[in-house]
Amino acid sequence: MSQIQNHLESSSHILVLGMGGTIAGLASNPDSKPLQYDAGQVEISTLLAQIQSAIPGEIGLVSEQLANINSCNMSEPLLTLLGRAVKDALDNSRFKGIVITHGTDTIEETGLFLQLVCGRFAQNLGKRVVLTGAMLPANASNADGLKNLLDAIHWAASPLDNSPGGIYAVMGGRVCMAMDLAKRHTTALNAPIQSSPSSPVGLINPSWLSGVKAAEIAWHEDLSIPDGDAWPWVEILTSHGGAKGELVDALVAQGVEGIVIAGTGQGSVNQVLAERLVWAAQMGVAVVRSSRTGAGAVFSEIPEPDTAWNWLSARDLSPPKARIALQLALLEANSRKTEDWQSIFATI
Ligand code: SIN
Repeated sequence: MSQIQNHLESSSHILVLGMGGTIAGLASNPDSKPLQYDAGQVEISTLLAQIQSAIPGEIGLVSEQLANINSCNMSEPLLTLLGRAVKDALDNSRFKGIVITHGTDTIEETGLFLQLVCGRFAQNLGKRVVLTGAMLPANASNADGLKNLLDAIHWAASPLDNSPGGIYAVMGGRVCMAMDLAKRHTTALNAPIQSSPSSPVGLINPSWLSGVKAAEIAWHEDLSIPDGDAWPWVEILTSHGGAKGELVDALVAQGVEGIVIAGTGQGSVNQVLAERLVWAAQMGVAVVRSSRTGAGAVFSEIPEPDTAWNWLSARDLSPPKARIALQLALLEANSRKTEDWQSIFATI
């Protein structure tokens, strides 16, 4: 752990965990081709050094580089590493809050993961965990990363007057609960934090918090962080015209434990695929039905008979979020023995 600044009392420190992403990316021709870059090139300590003068004197920063990757290469062992680092830091009285720099491509999965494994813990302790990232590489002329990082640090360090501890995300001058992150645009600067009724969004200003109502929801008990090699195998299959069932057969033959269907519309599933997925559920594979539309919810029994087929609907979880939720539910059911994955998934 490299210590950047350590000059005040212990509880005022913010731990900044670097995971990589565009915020740490470099373009070889930043002026002419800023979108052609390699993610995860700049160390978190270097990014922090560039904003040091804008950090209020009472905030001490400590940084740790956990990874420096393009988040499309995020792995389950890395999620475990991150989850444990966050939990340890929450438990450490030295830290008032935690900021995580992360690639935006899979930030919504990490956001939900952290909510499920330490959201309640953070809320109980009154500490904020804040995910942030960028859409432009660090050396682009109008790079958004340093401003986002600064905003995230401010939010992690600011008093809990208006909003409790919990797992948040800050980008493009906006904040939302990390579980509401949803990257739905390839290049827009606020891509992961879209303003929609199902995703409470606030602006970083004195009154922004009125929009963040989800933080007040009494959260269920945190789920366990899987050991790095203990994550259940869950795949996402997309339903589309001309779908083939053979993929399901191959996955079941290989030992898949769960399948999330990215269904069409309200979660409808191509008949050919549905037939094989009914069979997969009979074989003991956990099947969850979500929608590939990108917004809105999938309701139980509409339009597919979930109960009859022993499937579950993902409600408002996107396919990648439903995958993380199903992995954690399967693992938790395995360790608790007293509950099945369906009842655990239903509480998420
Ligand atoms: C990544 O997800 O690591 C690359 C894209 C981004 O950060 O926006």
